Amino acid sequence: MNVTIKTPEEQDKMRVAGRLAADVLDMIGEHVQPGVTTEELDQICHKFITETQDAIPAPLNYRGFPKSICTSVNHVVCHGIPGERKLKSGDAVNIDITVIKDGFHGDTSRMFFAGKPTIQADRLAKVAFESMWLGIKELAPGKHLGDIGEAIQKCVEKNRFSVVREYCGHGIGRVFHEDPQVLHYGRAGTGLEIQAGMTMTVEPMVNLGKRHVRLLPDGWTVVTKDHKLSAQWEHTVLITESGFEVLTLGAKDR
Ligand code: MF3
Ligand code: CO
Ligand code: CO
Repeated sequence: MNVTIKTPEEQDKMRVAGRLAADVLDMIGEHVQPGVTTEELDQICHKFITETQDAIPAPLNYRGFPKSICTSVNHVVCHGIPGERKLKSGDAVNIDITVIKDGFHGDTSRMFFAGKPTIQADRLAKVAFESMWLGIKELAPGKHLGDIGEAIQKCVEKNRFSVVREYCGHGIGRVFHEDPQVLHYGRAGTGLEIQAGMTMTVEPMVNLGKRHVRLLPDGWTVVTKDHKLSAQWEHTVLITESGFEVLTLGAKDR
């Protein structure tokens, strides 16, 4: 494993990248409406990132990914490719933004709804959000990655939902996905000991039904095997001497 510790200068660059990624989500929210296509959302984000922010959309051409953002609708778990399908009222969509600024990555995602969410989708999104925060709050020097996984898994399973195992959070910095892997399930006290200066994402994928997923033939889109809903939220976090600093808070949470 090759876990990088960021210098104070690098931490500042991560703060900038994180803030830009969050700004994109703040910007795109009002565009998520019935009738919009996910391709249109991609185009709006692409233009904002490249022209307004003078930054780079990290997904574009990443291992062959064809678009600038990920849009994962309803039973899509993650890595949905923006396309021509129009959102309809009640659709739940995770928008996942990663920008590169001055060589560093900021990675964050949120759930949005076109029109009014169904009660189930609303509850699932709220539990996924709560589980992400319970995981983040475990982050501090001397804690272990298993502490994060256990906190998330307990929250999700207490609510009778399930945690996706095949995809996880990750270290992040100059490299999009670097060590360590941040599992969203596990046992407290196990796994890597966390140190100040690490930066990583916490991004639990929570399924309404069973945890199992399937990869579509496009090589990217991950869906639930039972075709029930999935929800996800993601923040990029810096470990500080006293605990953690979330680098991708939206403007109203800063
Ligand atoms: N942003 C995703 C993550 O949270 C990764 C997307 S990779 C892509 O790690 F190629 F699909 F964009
Ligand atoms: Co990520
Ligand atoms: Co992401």
